[in-house]
Amino acid sequence: MKPIRKAVFPVAGLGTRLLPATKTMPKEMLTVVDRPLIQYAVDEAREAGIEQLIFVTGRGKSSLVDYFDMSFELEATMEKAGKSLDPLSASRADFGEIVSVRQQQPLGLGHAVWCARHIVGDEPFAILLPDDLMVGKPGALRQMVDAYARLGGNIVGAMEVPADRTSSYGIITPGARDGAVTEVTGLVEKPAPAEAPSNLAVVGRYILQPEVMAILSSKERGAGGEIQLTDAMAKLIGRQPFHALTAEAVRHDCGDRAGFVLANLAIALGRDDLRPVIEDYLATR
Ligand code: G1P
Repeated sequence: MKPIRKAVFPVAGLGTRLLPATKTMPKEMLTVVDRPLIQYAVDEAREAGIEQLIFVTGRGKSSLVDYFDMSFELEATMEKAGKSLDPLSASRADFGEIVSVRQQQPLGLGHAVWCARHIVGDEPFAILLPDDLMVGKPGALRQMVDAYARLGGNIVGAMEVPADRTSSYGIITPGARDGAVTEVTGLVEKPAPAEAPSNLAVVGRYILQPEVMAILSSKERGAGGEIQLTDAMAKLIGRQPFHALTAEAVRHDCGDRAGFVLANLAIALGRDDLRPVIEDYLATR
């Protein structure tokens, strides 16, 4: 079985749900406690053994690639002043670790993934949607890579959502369950609650076989008139093993105002240096 070495990060979105903050700043660069949102997804991918990170960017998103570059002036100045470079270490990529391609038009998540096809090539790969900040130990993708070693095929991250929220997610038709692993027998993008086959939703973590790229090449439109990754994945069911893993992790939807605030709170509360101050403040509310 080929290892998962590459991960695609679709980061071309306009972040309109977070305006005006995202007017001139990519949403993936907004701060969660003390680092940009994208750093969390990159850390999670590295922890899972990913060697090559493929950013699918768009116009106005170059600060994402700059962020992971070496900041020569900054480092030279800090070194001269005797300051530690430790705070910068996670934000530096190795030579060639990060590559970027452009999605020239916002045609949907499936299209964004397809834009990375030449770099992904003929091997299984991961996808991380940075908006979904997953807090877990080990991280959600590490848990999925471990499951992949046993199951092979395709694996999506999954989570139960309230029955009235199915129209915000890809929804799974569940087959046999074995602990945290559920066989996937169908997938539908953003169904109305009345049409939803379950309340088991896809979260923004995927391990997919390269055949999905050929399916995406047909550029078929789905929900919202967009080229949907969910529709392409649905076509793999029955041809290849397909499972969902409900990882032991908490998901925060950082594409949404409340989700973003909660992510900040959750991360801060998980840090020994910040927890006392936050708890004191909350106790006075
Ligand atoms: C995307 C996917 C959807 C998935 C969701 C997870 O939707 O299309 O299937 O459930 O991410 O966050 P989006 O949130 O981009 O509308």
